[in-house]
Amino acid sequence: MKSLVAYYSRTNITKKLAEDIASKTGADVEEIKPKKDYQGKMGYARGGKDAIQEKIIDLEALKYDPQDYDVVYLGAPVWASKAANPMITYIKQNEGKFNEVKFFITAGGRGFDSTLEQLEKYTKKPLKTLALTTKEVKKDDYSLDSFID
Ligand SMILES: Cc1cc2nc3c(=O)[nH]c(=O)nc-3n(C[C@H](O)[C@H](O)[C@H](O)COP(=O)(O)O)c2cc1C
Repeated sequence: MKSLVAYYSRTNITKKLAEDIASKTGADVEEIKPKKDYQGKMGYARGGKDAIQEKIIDLEALKYDPQDYDVVYLGAPVWASKAANPMITYIKQNEGKFNEVKFFITAGGRGFDSTLEQLEKYTKKPLKTLALTTKEVKKDDYSLDSFID
């Protein structure tokens, strides 16, 4: 089974999970990099606004075509109870190219369900989902066994 992990991460929490999933599955890794700056306090404010509007932005060139993979693991932080808009941009840019999907999301603690629903709306019904708090990821308080199965 050929797998791709495609993720966006602003402060490396989702990135940590992405790398863990990739190392355990042998998946290729696509880091989604927005050209727009979401770092710092101003970036936080921009991110919240853009996520609510599901704003499409420019991304750096992608390395992989999701169509070439049996499963794509899509990972993003929750922003304003939605998926961070760089992920929504990636999904829209690759519409119709996902064979099977699994979602992994991280958040301080709120907005998991609405984010998973949004991701499903823009892609398809996922094989599996994983929703973890920032704290759980930081403390390694999670297991990937059933998610990557
Ligand atoms: C713009 C913005 C909006 C956020 N909105 C939420 C939210 O609605 N609910 C929540 O629990 N956490 C929210 N967070 C916190 C992040 O989801 C959380 O810190 C996440 O684990 C960060 O992942 P990352 O390091 O991969 O970017 C928000 C963070 C940012 C930057």
